[in-house]
Amino acid sequence: MDMDKQRILIVGGGSGMGLALARCCLDKGATVIIAGRGEAKLDVARGELGRPAALETAAVDISREAEVAALFQRTGELDHIVSTAAAIEGAYRLLPEIELEAAQRVVESKFYGPLLLAKHGAPKLSAKGSLTFVSGIAAYRPAARGSVAAAVNAALEGLVRALAVELA
Ligand SMILES: NC(=O)c1ccc[n+]([C@@H]2O[C@H](COP(=O)([O-])OP(=O)(O)OC[C@H]3O[C@@H](n4cnc5c(N)ncnc54)[C@H](OP(=O)(O)O)[C@@H]3O)[C@@H](O)[C@H]2O)c1
Repeated sequence: MDMDKQRILIVGGGSGMGLALARCCLDKGATVIIAGRGEAKLDVARGELGRPAALETAAVDISREAEVAALFQRTGELDHIVSTAAAIEGAYRLLPEIELEAAQRVVESKFYGPLLLAKHGAPKLSAKGSLTFVSGIAAYRPAARGSVAAAVNAALEGLVRALAVELA
């Protein structure tokens, strides 16, 4: 894919795969907005990535609709929207130890978040734009302690199939 001059929003871009993707896109000439809940994490990532002229940061919790709507007011038109976001702390537990609040945080970050990104972000996409949501192998190869991860990744893939039909 030719990334030159493309404008790309990467939610989860403050760490892990999102940060690696941001670096790759910047290397290929894109303008990148990295987003996540923690401003401090985004500032550290900004320092690591360099290229201040091609990089923006945006603090947003994608499980909150008002914040997602406000984010897209600020970004304007985009070529690509990516989410690697997942709040999985405390979610990998055996059934007796599962706490509903931890499970809810996973669903909010990895299912409702992408749903809201699609709802508010699709109208901002350029004609050849794309949405990319990262799921996980847990959807197909669940392990003990992985029931919540398995369920949310499978739900995300179901959502994406329906979005592909609807947004086409
Ligand atoms: N790493 C693996 O081995 C692996 C395996 C299979 C699948 N995956 C999936 O691949 C994706 C990326 O994994 P990773 O290891 O790169 O994860 P990571 O380093 O934990 O990054 C996830 C990012 O999501 C952000 N985030 C979490 N909740 C958010 C929310 N509600 N709103 C906005 N941002 C939010 C976090 O930043 P803040 O906390 O600052 O918001 C964080 O920077 C995840 O979806 C993960 O489930 C990973």
